[in-house]
Amino acid sequence: MEVNKKYSILFVCLGNICRSPAAQAVFQHMVDERGLTACYEVDSAGTYGGHSGDLPDRRMRVHARRRGYELTHRARRITRDDFERFDLVVGMDNGNVADLERLAATVEEARKIVMMGDYIRQMRHYDYVPDPYYEGSEGFELVLDLLEDACENLLDQQERKRINNK
Ligand code: 4NP
Repeated sequence: MEVNKKYSILFVCLGNICRSPAAQAVFQHMVDERGLTACYEVDSAGTYGGHSGDLPDRRMRVHARRRGYELTHRARRITRDDFERFDLVVGMDNGNVADLERLAATVEEARKIVMMGDYIRQMRHYDYVPDPYYEGSEGFELVLDLLEDACENLLDQQERKRINNK
């Protein structure tokens, strides 16, 4: 019997304590709401390992919780194996994507890298998800607005592909 493999997505930012764990939670929430939990595996990682083992930044957790997202991920640094393990590797900004492209070992691995900004649909004046670490509350709200927008489009696009390949 053929076992359907989950489509796996890794969200990546710098510290893995603000943007990417929030992206992971927002995307997972949308997947669960649409009854697609069995179809997707979602995780996040950072290109910088200085916060490894930490919960997401408290400010990010507070803002996310207000919208119904509970952030429980523990930060980890991306590993070489992640490029094999995941089908799609999503960087939050140009710096993340450049770092990921340096880490990819093969052309096939590099082809898995995409930019979250390319999925932003409503808030088109943004083409990346800005780092909120040195910002105030509005920076964290902006991140969540952009992630909700982009995750919805990413899931729509992926679902279209999945259904067409059935
Ligand atoms: P993130 O934000 O990449 O969205 O997790 C940051 C978190 C920590 C640092 C930078 C960005 N830092 O330099 O420690």
